[in-house]
Amino acid sequence: MAIDTEHGSMTGDEIVALTKRHTLFEWSAQSKVDPIPVAGAKGVYFWTPEGKRYLDFNSQLMCTNIGHGHPKVIEAIARQAEQLAYANPFMATEPRARLGQKLAELTPGDIDTFFFTNGGAEANENAIKLARMVTGRHKILTRYRSYHGGTAGAMTLTGDPRRWANEPGIPGVIRVMDPYHGIQRGWDSAEEALANLEETIQLEGPHTIAAFILETVTGTNGILVPPDGYLAGVREICDRYGILMIADEVMAGFGRTGKWFAIDHWDVVPDLITMAKGLTSAYIQLGALGMRRKYAEHFENNVFYGGLTYNSHPLACATALATIAVYEEENLIERAAQMGEVLARHHADLAEKHPSVGAVRNIGLFGIVELVRNRETMEPMAPFNGTSDEMAALGRRFREDGLYTFVRWNSFFTNPPLTITEDELAEGFAIIDRALEVTDAAVA
Ligand SMILES: Cc1ncc(COP(=O)(O)O)c(C=O)c1O
Repeated sequence: MAIDTEHGSMTGDEIVALTKRHTLFEWSAQSKVDPIPVAGAKGVYFWTPEGKRYLDFNSQLMCTNIGHGHPKVIEAIARQAEQLAYANPFMATEPRARLGQKLAELTPGDIDTFFFTNGGAEANENAIKLARMVTGRHKILTRYRSYHGGTAGAMTLTGDPRRWANEPGIPGVIRVMDPYHGIQRGWDSAEEALANLEETIQLEGPHTIAAFILETVTGTNGILVPPDGYLAGVREICDRYGILMIADEVMAGFGRTGKWFAIDHWDVVPDLITMAKGLTSAYIQLGALGMRRKYAEHFENNVFYGGLTYNSHPLACATALATIAVYEEENLIERAAQMGEVLARHHADLAEKHPSVGAVRNIGLFGIVELVRNRETMEPMAPFNGTSDEMAALGRRFREDGLYTFVRWNSFFTNPPLTITEDELAEGFAIIDRALEVTDAAVA
């Protein structure tokens, strides 16, 4: 593959210095950030202005599902920009019309109406607003091990430590425990987790609760695949108490788990579904909130109080349509399921060979490796919400060796683009295999 290093006029160091001088990096103290300067990308690789190449084992932010630089999507963007770059959201455009129809085909059950946003957080903001409007109730249930976005409401829905500095947040958000309790305590059964959920609902007053929002397969907080029966049980409890079930599929949707939506693994139909990331593979920003027919009907004669200048942006809708065509034409959803089996074998090999591997999980190409200091006690290689010298060294080693992925607390992620080949997967796992000597050395 040709790496274009001729295009830009700045060096990597210049880009980093000027970026740091005038822009703020997210979730970080600015003196601690050490960004990779990125000049271009194609397929599963991206590179710096100097041509250092990285294998993208995290699809950037678990979003570039079709891989980088897909010519069909680029062409669709260019065509739409020429035809009609923008129309305000009170207008109707062809890409908006076609995307609504297409998503109605792909989403579960009778979900057939969509509100388009700029990303996942805004989709979740509008989901809880809508749930409150249709139920006339106020409280929203959410879980601790979750991320739902960086805006005020979505930040409160978020259970992970990114919430803390943003508290108190919006009123009425109630958190419940997840089925997973970390590598040392492990998993509840579906029955235990559902009993905890129902107890919280009783204690809060079912008639005060508008919705329960949950990541169907939890992303950043650990690729947590729910125990069988859990999501069906959540559906049943929500139905019993008139609580809307909101599936946050922002990260897990669009083939990541080997189905169009993660919830399809359990044949459950949520009331509302939110999506972003893989919807356009992040070529242009777009999020969406999907709703079942009965909620769409509610707004036939009731005002939907929500709006955005960039709602249903034609460029973004055209990008989503082209991206979805790529998933279909290249069978990427089935491919993610198949390659997920290959990925699971690589995970198992790592677990067998490396004493610092404490747990591996994946569903499709949505994977994680949790590292420990001791396989008996399962003491994590870094504490909750913290890092350690070993995890930092592992991250540096990946970077030196040309592998990009997310290293968080005691874990690293294995979430490559769905287009990845067996050889490219093997290339990534060979780098990981060598790098794990760093954490193996710390095993007691
Ligand atoms: C599950 C989930 N929900 C919501 C969001 C927020 O999406 P965005 O960053 O597009 O606002 C994310 C982002 O990582 C996410 O993973």
